[in-house]
Amino acid sequence: MILLNPGPVTLSDRVRNALSGPDLCHREEEFSLLQQSIRDKLLRVYNLSNENWAPVLLTGSGTAAVEAMLISCIPEEGKALVIENGVYGERISEMLKSYAIHYDRHTNEWGANIDIDSLSVMLSKKKYSHVVLVHHETTTGRLNELSEISELCTSYGTKLLVDAVSSFGAEAIPFENGTIAACAATANKCLHGVPGTSFVLLNRPLFKNTVAPRRSVYLDLFKYLKAQDDKGTPFTQSVQSFYALEEALREFFDQGGRTSRYKVYKRRMTKVSSILNSLRIEPFLPSSVNSVVLRSFLLPHEKTYEEVHQSLKKQGFIIYAGQNQYRDKLFRISLMGNISTKDLSSLEFALGKTFS
Ligand SMILES: Cc1ncc(COP(=O)(O)O)c(C=O)c1O
Repeated sequence: MILLNPGPVTLSDRVRNALSGPDLCHREEEFSLLQQSIRDKLLRVYNLSNENWAPVLLTGSGTAAVEAMLISCIPEEGKALVIENGVYGERISEMLKSYAIHYDRHTNEWGANIDIDSLSVMLSKKKYSHVVLVHHETTTGRLNELSEISELCTSYGTKLLVDAVSSFGAEAIPFENGTIAACAATANKCLHGVPGTSFVLLNRPLFKNTVAPRRSVYLDLFKYLKAQDDKGTPFTQSVQSFYALEEALREFFDQGGRTSRYKVYKRRMTKVSSILNSLRIEPFLPSSVNSVVLRSFLLPHEKTYEEVHQSLKKQGFIIYAGQNQYRDKLFRISLMGNISTKDLSSLEFALGKTFS
C-alpha cells in the first residue's frame, strides 16, 4: 500500500529496519547519544547553529509540538494574533482558548491567500506579542506567505510562531531573519520518519528571555530544553520512533538534503497534476500558491469521494478526503515518503482506471 495521505508516509526499508533496533532505556548513555545526534541533524536540515537554535524533541504527534510551542512561548501578559485559513490555524485558536491565553483571530477563507493589508492594519496597533501562522495549510495545500509575514512581523516588532508540521524538511523557512521565535514540526511527514516523535525548534536568544507561566506538566518546553541540553530527558521518549527518525535523517542527507527533497516532491507533484489534468480533474489551487507536499483536486460531479478512495485503495493507494465544507468537493494527494518511479507509473494506471 502506498500512502498518499499527508503522513504517516510510506517508509523506506532503511527506516522500517531501524525500528527493530536494540531495546534501550531512555536513561542510558546510548539514548542520550541518539537524542543528541537527532538534535544535531535537525539543525542541519536548515543549516542552523546550535548557538541560536535549539531543537526540543517530544514524544507525541505534531499537535503536541504545536501546543507545547504556544503554551511555552507566549507570556502571561502576551497576546497572539492567529492567522487562519484552514483547519490547523483554527485548531491553534482552539488551543489558545483552552489555555485562556489572550488572542485575536485574523480569519481568511479556507484556501484563500492571507489578506496582508488587513493583517498589517491589525499589527500596526501593536497589541500583539506573537503572530501564529501555519506555514503549509494541509487542509487545502496552500503554502502561506511565510517570508512576507515574517518581514511584516519584523517591522512591527512582533515574534512569529510557526506551525511547520507539514512543510519542515521540504519547503524553505526564513529562519535567518530573526523573527521566528519557534517552529513546530514532526518526524512523520517531510522527514519520512514514523509517528510518535515531534519537535519544536526554539530561537535560543528569544526563548532565554521568555517568561511564560508553566501551563502544562508534560508540554513544558523549558523543562525539555534544560534536560536535553544536559543530555537527558524529563520523560520516557518513544525510543523506536527516535531510531526511525535518526535513520530517516541519515537518508535525508544521503539524498541531498532539503532542496533535493523539495525538487523530488515538485517533480512528483507536477507529474501527478498533469496525469489528473489529462483526465480532466482540476486542481483546487493554482500551482503558484500550492506547496509541493500536498495538492487538493476537485472531485468530478459523477463520482463521490468514497468511490474514488475505494477504487484507488483496491489498486494499492491511499488518498485523503477534504475536510468539513470540502468533504464532498475535494480529494487530497500528498507525495511524501518512499515513492518510486514505478509506483508513480502504477498510480497513473490506477488514476486512469478510476476517472476514465
Ligand atoms: C499543518 C499541520 N499542523 C498540525 C497537524 C497535526 O499533526 P498531528 O496529526 O501529527 O497531530 C497537521 C497534521 O496533518 C498539520 O498538517
